[in-house]
Amino acid sequence: SFQQQIPHGLKRLPEPRGYPLIGNVLELGRNPHLSLTQMSQKYGDVMQIRIGTTPVLVLSGLNTIRQALVKQAEDFMGRPDLCSFRYIGDGQSLTFSSDSGEVWRARRKLAQNALKTFSVSPSPTASSTCLLEEHVFKEADYLITELLQQMKEKKSFDAYRYTVISVANVICGICFGRRYSHDDQELLSLVSLNNEFGDVAASGNPADFIPILQYFPSRPMKIFKDLNKRFSAFVHKIVKEHYTTFDKSHIRDITDSLIEHCQDKKIDVNANIQLPEKKIVNLVNDLFGAGFDTVTTALSWSLVYLVTYPDIQKKIQNELDQTIGRERRPKLSDRLMLPYLEAFILETFRHSSFVPFTIPHCTTKDTSLNGYYIPKNLCVFINQWQVNHDETLWKEPSAFNPERFLNAEGTEINRMESDKVLLFGLGKRRCIGESIGKWEIFLFLATLLQQLEFSICDGQKVDTTPQYGLTMKHKKCEHFQVKQRFPNKSFE
Ligand code: HEM
Repeated sequence: SFQQQIPHGLKRLPEPRGYPLIGNVLELGRNPHLSLTQMSQKYGDVMQIRIGTTPVLVLSGLNTIRQALVKQAEDFMGRPDLCSFRYIGDGQSLTFSSDSGEVWRARRKLAQNALKTFSVSPSPTASSTCLLEEHVFKEADYLITELLQQMKEKKSFDAYRYTVISVANVICGICFGRRYSHDDQELLSLVSLNNEFGDVAASGNPADFIPILQYFPSRPMKIFKDLNKRFSAFVHKIVKEHYTTFDKSHIRDITDSLIEHCQDKKIDVNANIQLPEKKIVNLVNDLFGAGFDTVTTALSWSLVYLVTYPDIQKKIQNELDQTIGRERRPKLSDRLMLPYLEAFILETFRHSSFVPFTIPHCTTKDTSLNGYYIPKNLCVFINQWQVNHDETLWKEPSAFNPERFLNAEGTEINRMESDKVLLFGLGKRRCIGESIGKWEIFLFLATLLQQLEFSICDGQKVDTTPQYGLTMKHKKCEHFQVKQRFPNKSFE
């Protein structure tokens, strides 16, 4: 290999030795979040690996990642042009496409505003304070009814399979103004994925970095392409219906508001840029896609921890009983009064680290970090799992212990601790659904745990080994059970 010129005063990136042609693919193995964490202990927070012959920068350590994504935000805000990303959202995805210029910026702002309007706006119903709350209340009630029904019929169930429909319905409500029944086959086949999306879209998928592999199309890649096609078709059909029933004086959901934006030919005041219609309306593709898989995975891990640590479940329920009681539902405004539940959610995020890497970034110009020279257009992996399990940041990182986030009295979240959890990225590419996601998880859990006690059938265990992917899931488990906590009580 050739020796690149390094500008005076900067160091060359440290790099583990690899093999010709395949680079470090073998060392990456099946769990890149673990192998790259180990490698970072030897080579440092800033290191370079090779996948095939393609160099990739791997960042670890909270301070180093903050320096890159927040303090040098412009330099590290790009997305690499990976071949698998071209199949997502017809290659026009806000999240995955390689655009990070004016057009991306204007679309991101539009998506953020639309999300805000259809989640925190006041609800027309008296029983909830905002639209998001209204959606989650309704879906949590349906979910409870469905789980109790499954218990009656089958004595146990696969919690993921029902949670995913409830969560998908919340984002469907916000984006499309509609919901689906728990046995709707069209929605089920689209959302009850066994990580077919996350396998291919994960950081370090060799097919994205070793060009010759594209000539040997794999089964996961075929499933991935097919899934993206079905996903686009599903959204396209709903968008078409919205165009035919569109009424300017009655904007029903995010899709309507994006159509309105096109028709008004609004010009983004900050970017001063006119977006093509397609790039506006297909933002719902990004919101719908990002909105169900992440939140479902979070809830599903929460349920796994609850049945694995029944004492922790009891503590959450005691807190709910003392703060809310049985007479009313938990609301978003109760969040600060339920610090133990909040600590449990944070610990679920940290311990599972179910988004082990952010979506890959790339550098937008020649730059440097911690004294190392970093060239333009270098693909960057951000190891969130490493931060959440860093022994210099956390006491006993492998233990599941919500109390680590509470003050000594257990009355408040310790913000110094909670700010160290890294799951939504940082800086200019930071997740735009972080608040909505956290609110949904809080409301679903509070509602479910107020009314139900979760367990696993006698003699069964959940396999809690994470399966690597863009989002990591636990193995399928069909042995969940619930019991009503107050069998004779019903709300409203
Ligand atoms: C991006 C995590 C929920 C919309 C991201 C990224 C992460 C993430 C790690 C990539 C950040 C980066 O590349 O540096 C999560 C987690 C969630 C969640 C853990 C739930 C617990 C949501 C929800 C929505 C959403 C509910 C929308 C309804 C997006 C979008 C992007 C994104 C549009 C792309 C931003 C861009 O590329 O500019 N999310 N997310 N996310 N997320 Fe989320």
